[in-house]
Amino acid sequence: MSTPTLLVLYGSQTGTAQDAAQRIGRQAKRKRLQVRVSPLDQYDVADLISESLVVFVCATTGQGEAPDNMKNFWRFLFRKSLPAGSLNRLDCAVLGLGDSSYPKFNFVAKKLHKRLLQLGASSLLPVGLADDQHDLGSDAVIDPWLALLWEQVFALFPTLSDVEALSEDEPLPPTYTFHFLDDVKEEADDQGRIPPQQTVPVSQSHPFPARLVSNQRVTDPAHFQDVRHIEFDITRSDIKFGAGDVVNMRPCNAAEDVEQFCQLLRLEPEARFTLSATDAAAVPVRLPQPCTVRHLVESYLDVGAVPRRSFFELMSTFATNELEREKLLEFSSAAGQAELHDYCNRPRRTALEVLSDFPHTTAELKVDYVLDLFPEIQPRSFSIASALQLHPNRIQILVAVVRYKTKMFKPRQGLCSGWLASLDPAQGEVFVPLWVKKGSLTFPKESDTPVIMVGPGTGVAPFRSALQERTAAGRTDNVLFFGCRSESKDFYFRSEWEELTEAGRLTLFTAFSRDQEEKVYVQHRVEQNAELLWDLIANRDACFYIAGNAKQMPSSVGDALKLVFRKEGKLTEEEAERKFMTMERTGRLQSETWS
Ligand code: 2AM
Repeated sequence: MSTPTLLVLYGSQTGTAQDAAQRIGRQAKRKRLQVRVSPLDQYDVADLISESLVVFVCATTGQGEAPDNMKNFWRFLFRKSLPAGSLNRLDCAVLGLGDSSYPKFNFVAKKLHKRLLQLGASSLLPVGLADDQHDLGSDAVIDPWLALLWEQVFALFPTLSDVEALSEDEPLPPTYTFHFLDDVKEEADDQGRIPPQQTVPVSQSHPFPARLVSNQRVTDPAHFQDVRHIEFDITRSDIKFGAGDVVNMRPCNAAEDVEQFCQLLRLEPEARFTLSATDAAAVPVRLPQPCTVRHLVESYLDVGAVPRRSFFELMSTFATNELEREKLLEFSSAAGQAELHDYCNRPRRTALEVLSDFPHTTAELKVDYVLDLFPEIQPRSFSIASALQLHPNRIQILVAVVRYKTKMFKPRQGLCSGWLASLDPAQGEVFVPLWVKKGSLTFPKESDTPVIMVGPGTGVAPFRSALQERTAAGRTDNVLFFGCRSESKDFYFRSEWEELTEAGRLTLFTAFSRDQEEKVYVQHRVEQNAELLWDLIANRDACFYIAGNAKQMPSSVGDALKLVFRKEGKLTEEEAERKFMTMERTGRLQSETWS
């Protein structure tokens, strides 16, 4: 039997599945297997019928959907026209990455596995169900699953096991080689750049460079939280969106982090290079060729993320300093995972901080490996907070700047919100590449359906968009529950809500949680207005929406709504539960939550 190429295909939303797929790829290389690792949507699915050995690594998103970079594959695979035996030649394995705190835990991996078998593929081992909620992280499931995978692969292809494996101490060849150019980059002139008319539709692979128009703090300067109302100009982009849609962008690393990274690795920020791939990998399309080191570090390498175990595995192969090597090997071993968790995850130590903790090894790192060591910066989504009808050619968002303390000396900051907050249009023109996607909230098309919206904090963003859209269309049956800490500190868009209320276009209920002794939350206001809400839902078929920070809020609001059904609608507990579920199923109750 000839030696097969192992294909590792992944669908990843936040990079975890990608990391697991790459880890499988590295293990395969150490075992001297021919291997190719690719995102599902960059693989031509029609070729699947001629593959013999494929490992699928798939994340499941919070709502139970497939990640964006496997959507096309997903659609193709579930076509009815695919004949039952099309994958007869295929031996496959499916590893799922999920979070058991969500109801549709690893739904994508399970469904994929079932479908592959239905199409005739043979399964090498049961689906791996990695769980983010596990105390020791998803590796607690992945490690034993991988051990079994290799056992099965070698049982199937016994000749493979005869070849001597590459020692764990030796670095694998890098995925890419850097070719530095002799010249130094002339300063790029980005000033006053007007985006040309977009000729291809705006998407993740063709983002639109939107000009930052304004960036205003909307909370009191003395308030603990910095929340920004940010506006982008999308003139000439042809971007269309509706209420409930989201805008995506990739943040950049802070200039000081870029400087520090370059110093630690002894790289010249203005040096230019081209990349070539050393195996079947494609050069990342997002990186221009040639590219400067500064651009690579600033906009591509996620040096601020908490490094994963694979980072330590690779680092340990460069270590010559005994002390550092020992520590790195411990962090890469299965036995060292609890310690790694304490060192990295608990204090949210960044990769950059780890590099400075291991200065000798860092100084030995070859630049060729940086794309293997650091994951790509992932895009972030924000609910759009404006409507084109009221703000043509504009996208507005509402962003809470994430800042928190850990035991690390330097306070932590969310990469994207911190970066956005730092952008100042008064300091010269700033362009942010962005694209828009459908969100999970949809608003009623019928003109006479009332909407009830519950959006505490930045959860109000999609509802501001819906209100602008609806009031522009003359729809006045709008109820909004807004919650914040204090009327004087974080009651954003107050004057807008007051104007709409005065014009008879909005019924507003507020819950200021800290303006009095006892906590008052949006769910309390929902309960207190049972009569109005029951009337709108039971007699006028109103739609009910919840948006905001996950944790307890959505379920507490849900409970308050069920109480409304029981109190005003005189339903039993069971009937209230059933009504709630029916509303969810028919799209009359929707929620969008984030953490
Ligand atoms: P708190 O911070 O005083 O607890 C926006 O963040 C608002 O949501 C704040 O007023 C916040 O109150 C409130 N909030 C926090 N936890 C909540 C929960 N479980 N349910 C509803 N509102 C909550």
